[in-house]
Amino acid sequence: MKTCGSYIIRGGKKLEGEAVVSGSKNASLPILAASILNNGITKLYNVPNIHDTKVMIEILRNLGCKVKRVRDKIVIDARSVNKQEIPEELMRKMRSSVILAGALIGRMNSATFSCPGGCDIGARPIDLHLKAFENLGIKICENTGYIHCTCDTIVGEKIHLDFPSVGATENAMLVAVLAKGTTIISNAAMEPEIIDLQNFLNKMGAKVTGAGTNEIVIQGVEKLKDTGYQIMPDRIEAGTLLCAVATTGGNLKLKKVIPDHLTPVIEKLKECGCKIETTKDTLILQAPKKLNSVDIKTMPYPGFPTDMQAILVGMLCTAKGTSIVVENIFENRYKYTNELNRIGAKIMVEGRTAIIKGVRKLGNGTVEATDLRGGAALVVASLRSNGKTKVTNIEYILRGYENLDEKLNALGANITKEVG
Ligand code: UD1
Repeated sequence: MKTCGSYIIRGGKKLEGEAVVSGSKNASLPILAASILNNGITKLYNVPNIHDTKVMIEILRNLGCKVKRVRDKIVIDARSVNKQEIPEELMRKMRSSVILAGALIGRMNSATFSCPGGCDIGARPIDLHLKAFENLGIKICENTGYIHCTCDTIVGEKIHLDFPSVGATENAMLVAVLAKGTTIISNAAMEPEIIDLQNFLNKMGAKVTGAGTNEIVIQGVEKLKDTGYQIMPDRIEAGTLLCAVATTGGNLKLKKVIPDHLTPVIEKLKECGCKIETTKDTLILQAPKKLNSVDIKTMPYPGFPTDMQAILVGMLCTAKGTSIVVENIFENRYKYTNELNRIGAKIMVEGRTAIIKGVRKLGNGTVEATDLRGGAALVVASLRSNGKTKVTNIEYILRGYENLDEKLNALGANITKEVG
């Protein structure tokens, strides 16, 4: 990844006000990929304008789609899809490009791709995706770093996932939509983004039920139809804004949020001493001057999300007492803690456990974003620093956040962006 931008953060300001949550990155990516299942036109609304959605659009264009973007609306004309191979340089730009494999197989009965890229937060293999494909009768052959998937007819089958992988669940759903017969995915991931994918597929004419539970049933259909769909709000961006404000002892009204998706995060913020009120689509947070420490274990949904782990740790650096965090999903998701320690945090990592001793304030310095959520954690922590923090490599942050600096500045933060 190119390294060219930085945030200069002057901390110590209490953040207050209102913010609107953008559309979900992790829902947009599989839904953009799924649009190629329809030999027609799809309109998507509330798609965040971030690096990862831009890469997905670049890949769709490369496969032959005509894609137009007008603000948060994206129109995909997939009638001209004419390739089944995803070029390696695009595949390496983003791990979620693997989700196109399922959509391509569903549409073209074949797909060729290299091993996906993305943030370096662990091994992130794709064995569960490939096993699900094999269950559906797809032949897989690997050579010279490329994976070739082919089949004559896709026939619905039972698929049991060894682990409720989000990506493998989505890929299996995409392959099964146009298959002959019924596919049942057991031990499926239950994340809200899977429900959003189901809702989109059904609006396009698919027959999918059970998303949000651990068993998803897909009755294959012959054809899909043109549709429009509004992407759900980004629960991780919402959680990031909440932690950013909470770390400064401020208050926030979040709009266009689904508080139900944030239950495990809300519970932890309450344990930290925050007062939280919710309606169907708003959330009001009032933070105490100093937060309490909390313990966290990341788990598949509805457990505490791994994507919020770093962000909570960024917030807990200046909480009262000692917090213990256990990362159960990705084995290498603590790189950012070394950076936090460089500006005065006291974090000790042992294997999957991080022990965070709260300090009063963090100091000045330069820190480097090492992945998307780790980068956001540096921003959150810097908001409570005594002086000036420079966060470099913000390209990682821009992969997944739409105008994070502007949203925080509107709440009273002092963040400037340096390019180059
Ligand atoms: C998705 C999210 C990511 C989030 C993660 C877990 C998107 C675009 N990304 O990633 O933000 O952190 O869910 O909530 O939606 N695994 C295997 N073999 C596989 C697939 C996964 O061993 O074939 C392992 C992974 O290494 C990891 C765990 O399963 O340890 C969870 O991964 P998975 O749920 O697949 O995450 P992603 O879909 O990559």
